[in-house]
Amino acid sequence: MKVNGKDYRSVWFNSEYQSVHCIDQTRLPHEFTVLTLSDLSCACEAISTMQVRGAPLIGVTAAFGMYLALRENPGSYDLARAKLLATRPTAVNLQWALQQVDKHCEGLHGDELIQQALNTAQQLADDDVQICSEIGESGAAVFEKIWRAKSDNSPLNVLTHCNAGWLATVDWGTALSVIYKTAARGIPLHVWVDETRPRNQGAALTCWELTQHGIPNTLIVDNAGGHLMQHGQVDVCIVGSDRTTACGDVCNKVGTYLKALAAFDNQVPFYAAVPISTIDFSMNDGVKEIPIELRSPLEVTHMTGLDGQGARTTIQLSHADVLAHNIGFDVTPARLVTGIITEQGVFQATKESLQALSA
Ligand code: MRU
Repeated sequence: MKVNGKDYRSVWFNSEYQSVHCIDQTRLPHEFTVLTLSDLSCACEAISTMQVRGAPLIGVTAAFGMYLALRENPGSYDLARAKLLATRPTAVNLQWALQQVDKHCEGLHGDELIQQALNTAQQLADDDVQICSEIGESGAAVFEKIWRAKSDNSPLNVLTHCNAGWLATVDWGTALSVIYKTAARGIPLHVWVDETRPRNQGAALTCWELTQHGIPNTLIVDNAGGHLMQHGQVDVCIVGSDRTTACGDVCNKVGTYLKALAAFDNQVPFYAAVPISTIDFSMNDGVKEIPIELRSPLEVTHMTGLDGQGARTTIQLSHADVLAHNIGFDVTPARLVTGIITEQGVFQATKESLQALSA
């Protein structure tokens, strides 16, 4: 997608310099900074500090991390894999991407192994672009139908939580791909963007992304969605997912569940847009089984932004003695999910419907 008119992916390989790069998402929206991931520890740090984040992007970055580790030491496969896997627990795409590297690199050694790890990472990146584009097309058909059912031709009001845009994938995004592809059909849209405390992915990333692409958007506090839905100001909700179970429970950024409850209570359709690699067919009950990331309390008690002089600064919100509990994700039970939008079409959030994708 474009940044100031120039095409970017969120992670990429520069073949001229044999280097891996990504956009530093912790600096957005105020600074657009490109990072070089020069070795395994850079890749691990980028994932754990959320310089790269979003389930599909974490997976692809981990695959590049394997290449970087093997380039330094072709004997470090198992150690590198374990370090990457430990960076973030919830997004199943991380595990999935490492399994893809395992599959393609099995039995290889030395230069062949290094080259194959790179080929796999690049292939996963290219596939992700294609898959996210297809997710967008699948979802745009749904959104067009919802818009056509509106009687007054006014913009389709969409609510989203966190950032499931191109920054969270290699390109296009999942939930935001649906928005981009709907806009490309000439359908007027407006997006309510939840700020997404504590890391503010909505405020910092989704608003920036949508604005770069000319999609009208308005930032709201995380608790505003219920009110907007009660007053008919939301036509549809759409989110991404870090892990979706075989039965259609959707794990996504903390706060998603409350949006789904409010949507259900107000008969607002609630969709999750996910690549099939995000569906964990080994799990059925998302609330009981999905590992939920616990992050630093400092992300809740402190906030980073620009001060009055435009300098980046971190402020403390609460008293120094305050205890904070920082769960990264929650699970929306399948019964609250209207549909799962994938690269192979739209499915009901049920085991029967999703099992067609498990092969
Ligand atoms: O903690 P984050 O920013 O990595 O969380 C990201 C999300 O919750 C996204 O909605 C999810 O990964 C889907 S991205 C297409």
